[in-house]
Amino acid sequence: MNQSSQDQTMAAVAVEGGKGPAEALKPVQIPRPTPGEGQILIRVRAAGVNRPDIAQRQGFYPPPPGAPDTLGLEVAGEVIEPAGRWKAGDLVCALLGGGGYAEYAVCDARHALPLPRGLDAVQAAGLPETVFTVFANVFEHGGLKAGETLLVHGATSGIGVTAIQMGKAAGARVIATARGAAKAEQARQVGADVAVDSTAEDFADAALREGGVDVVLDMVGAPYFDQNLKALKTGGRIVYIAAQGGGTVELSIGRLMQKRAAITGSTLRPRSADEKARLAAEVERRVWPWIEAGQVRPYIDRTFPLAEAAAAHAHLESGAHLGKVVLLT
Ligand SMILES: NC(=O)c1ccc[n+]([C@@H]2O[C@H](COP(=O)([O-])OP(=O)(O)OC[C@H]3O[C@@H](n4cnc5c(N)ncnc54)[C@H](OP(=O)(O)O)[C@@H]3O)[C@@H](O)[C@H]2O)c1
Repeated sequence: MNQSSQDQTMAAVAVEGGKGPAEALKPVQIPRPTPGEGQILIRVRAAGVNRPDIAQRQGFYPPPPGAPDTLGLEVAGEVIEPAGRWKAGDLVCALLGGGGYAEYAVCDARHALPLPRGLDAVQAAGLPETVFTVFANVFEHGGLKAGETLLVHGATSGIGVTAIQMGKAAGARVIATARGAAKAEQARQVGADVAVDSTAEDFADAALREGGVDVVLDMVGAPYFDQNLKALKTGGRIVYIAAQGGGTVELSIGRLMQKRAAITGSTLRPRSADEKARLAAEVERRVWPWIEAGQVRPYIDRTFPLAEAAAAHAHLESGAHLGKVVLLT
C-alpha cells in the first residue's frame, strides 16, 4: 500500500461510554488497523454477530490482551495486505480476537480460511465463531463419534443450528431442545432427529426414551445440570460453552461415578494464536468438506448495515432469530 494504513480511518462501531444497552452501539470513524508480523489485513464485507458480543457490550466479557477493544469475533472479506498462504484479492473468512465490526480487520494469517465453495461472504461471515466452537467442544472435548447421540440445547441459536448439522454430518443421532414449540419445530427442520420443547417437557425423559445421550453441548448451565446428568448414558460427556441460566451447581459425586461421566467445557477466545491455528487447520480439513457438500449450511436470519449494529444486537437479544445475524460493511 502506498499510504500507511495507520494514516487512514475507517467506519466502525463503538460502545458509547464503554458499556451499555444495544443503543450504546454507535457508528464511529477510527484508525484503520495495521497488520503485524504474520497478520493479514482484510477489507471486511460482512461480520457475524455473536452472543459473546452482547456480553462484551454489557461489560462482562473484556477482550483478551492484545485484541482490539471493538466488538466482532468473525468476518468475511477480501485480503488487502497478504501474509502466510494468502495473496491480495483472496476471499477469506476469519476468526478474530475482536474488531470485526469495521470496514477493515487484521488477523493472524493462520486464523483465516478460504470461503467454502458455493458460499458468499455474508454466508461465510457467520461460520468461524460457531464452527470453531462446535468443533472444539463437541468433537475434541466431547469426543463425539459416528453412531453416538448428541444432545444440543439452544437449538435455534447460531451455535445450536451449527451443532445439529455438524452432529448429523458426523453420523451421530441428534436430540435438540429449544424453548417453545415453534423453535422445536425449527430445530427439526434444521435436521434434529428429535426436538424437545423444554418449556413443555422434561428433556431428560425425552432423551431417555431415545436410549440416552453420549454428549451434551450445553450453554444453559445450572438449570439444566441435573437433567443433563440424568439424560447421559454410561460414559457420557457434558461439555459447557456458557452458563446463561446460572453457573453454580451442586454435584452428586456418586451419580458422576455411577455414570462414569465426564464434565468439561471451554472458551474459544482466550486460546493462544497457535491453538487457534491448529483448530483452523482441523476445521478446514474436517468441516469445510461438510459445508461444501451441503451437509452443513449457514442459516442467516437477518442482515443489517454496519451502522445499524444497535438494531442487530436488539434483534439477537429478542431471541426471535434462527441461526445467525450478520452486519454488512
Ligand atoms: N465457550 C465458547 O467458546 C463460546 C463461543 C461462542 C458462543 N458461546 C456461547 O454459546 C451460546 C450461544 O451463542 P450464540 O451466538 O449462538 O447465541 P444466540 O444465537 O443468541 O443464542 C442463545 C441461545 O441460548 C438460549 N438460552 C439462553 N438462556 C437460556 C436459558 N436460561 N434456558 C434455555 N436456553 C437459553 C436461547 O434460547 P431462546 O431462543 O429460547 O431464547 C438461544 O437459543 C452463548 O451463550 C454464547 O456465549 C460460547
